[in-house]
Amino acid sequence: MDKLVIKGGKPLKGSIRVSGAKNAALPMLAATLLTGGSFIFENLPRLRDVRTFLHLLKELGAKIDFAAYEEGERPVSVDTGSLASYEASYDLVRTMRASILVLGPLVSRTGKARVSLPGGCAIGERPVDMHLKGLERMGAKLSLKKGYVEAKGKRLKGAEIYFDIPTVTGTENIMMAAVMAKGTTILKNAAREPEVVALGDMLNEMGARISGLGTATVVVEGVKDLRPGKFRVIPDRIEAGTFVMAAGTAGGSLKIEQAEPAHLEAVLSKLNQAGLKIKTGKDWIRVENKGHLNSVDIKTMPYPGFPTDLQAQIMALMTTASGLSVITETIFENRFMHVAELKRMGADIKTEGRSAVVRGVKRLHGAPVMATDLRASASLVLAGLGAKGTTEIHRIYHLDRGYQAIEKKLASVGADIRREKADMPY
Ligand code: EPZ
Repeated sequence: MDKLVIKGGKPLKGSIRVSGAKNAALPMLAATLLTGGSFIFENLPRLRDVRTFLHLLKELGAKIDFAAYEEGERPVSVDTGSLASYEASYDLVRTMRASILVLGPLVSRTGKARVSLPGGCAIGERPVDMHLKGLERMGAKLSLKKGYVEAKGKRLKGAEIYFDIPTVTGTENIMMAAVMAKGTTILKNAAREPEVVALGDMLNEMGARISGLGTATVVVEGVKDLRPGKFRVIPDRIEAGTFVMAAGTAGGSLKIEQAEPAHLEAVLSKLNQAGLKIKTGKDWIRVENKGHLNSVDIKTMPYPGFPTDLQAQIMALMTTASGLSVITETIFENRFMHVAELKRMGADIKTEGRSAVVRGVKRLHGAPVMATDLRASASLVLAGLGAKGTTEIHRIYHLDRGYQAIEKKLASVGADIRREKADMPY
């Protein structure tokens, strides 16, 4: 197991390139199951979760150019000409809940699927009831056996589907199930995240007929068949937001390149209010820390609100802002695991249900801390960059799921951060 060792207090200076978005890449890879042929993906991020998903596609029968993927920057081909299986095993799904995204495409293409139900995860129970109800509304016959959901449905039919909550992967799964269904499917209270829009754009380029992307009502007119193609993954807005906040905790100034500022409006406006000087261009964000941060209140909401995936990171920033910041997490029921770790570094945080009250302190101090989930790990990195002394972050496999070589990118702009073998036996 690796750990990250960070010596805090080094201001950042220079530019960092943002990688492709994990949460766009995963559904786009799932969409290759909808039709045979060779797909080419540009800007695929080199991350644990993407690697796992590529192995899942291989298990289903796809041919993957892993050499190109491991080489680092080259386009990667995925050929789903012949599927050998329609089962996503527990071993794979338990490591990556996004495997549930193969359900819709597999039923749509082969008329059947057997996908292990994802278990809970650190941040919450995370049920998939809305995915399953949507498929049933489209005529799929579902049964739950030994922790697996088995779905059968020769040709799915269009339906009107209302989501109680604008579920991101639920919207993506049903959109993929609907593109070749018989008739029209209307998704109401659909998720509006840029990653959902990116999937819809890819499906339309494959020959699907989807309208209303980015709004709460998405209409899918079923077509007979689809074709493969070449696609580029959009920039990762969560990675970009994390680096903007790194300039906040470490000090200094950064230019974040190959980003999409339009995907971060809620975040950049809050960070402006907090006192960071932010300028944006077509595909870049420049941030300067003028030395003083004030507290802001945050309430996570579905897009275009403040994203839950940046809640832990902005909490790290607020630990040394002046005043009180109230941070409310409305999406997941247990997404405050980073609080205990930040308190080990001297943060003053009190949680009450889904809200955390952060009282700014002068400076955090370095300490050995433990990553508990992907975004909590990122918040500990941000805290370590500004803390006095050395911070050791253990179990950083969580971090590697969603950030491509984060220590290299931060070291390239002046952070004193390195990856080491962990001496702790656990
Ligand atoms: C996606 O998860 C992202 N993952 C998450 O990013 C992100 O935090 C989340 O959306 C919210 O933005 C991917 O895109 C791969 P949801 P998802 O369905 O789709 C409840 C990261 O850090 N719900 O929008 O699983 C659910 O419990 C990850 O990159 C149901 O009740 O999230 C949650 O409270 C973490 N029933 C809320 O809806 C369902 O059938 C939103 O979940 C589905 C969801």
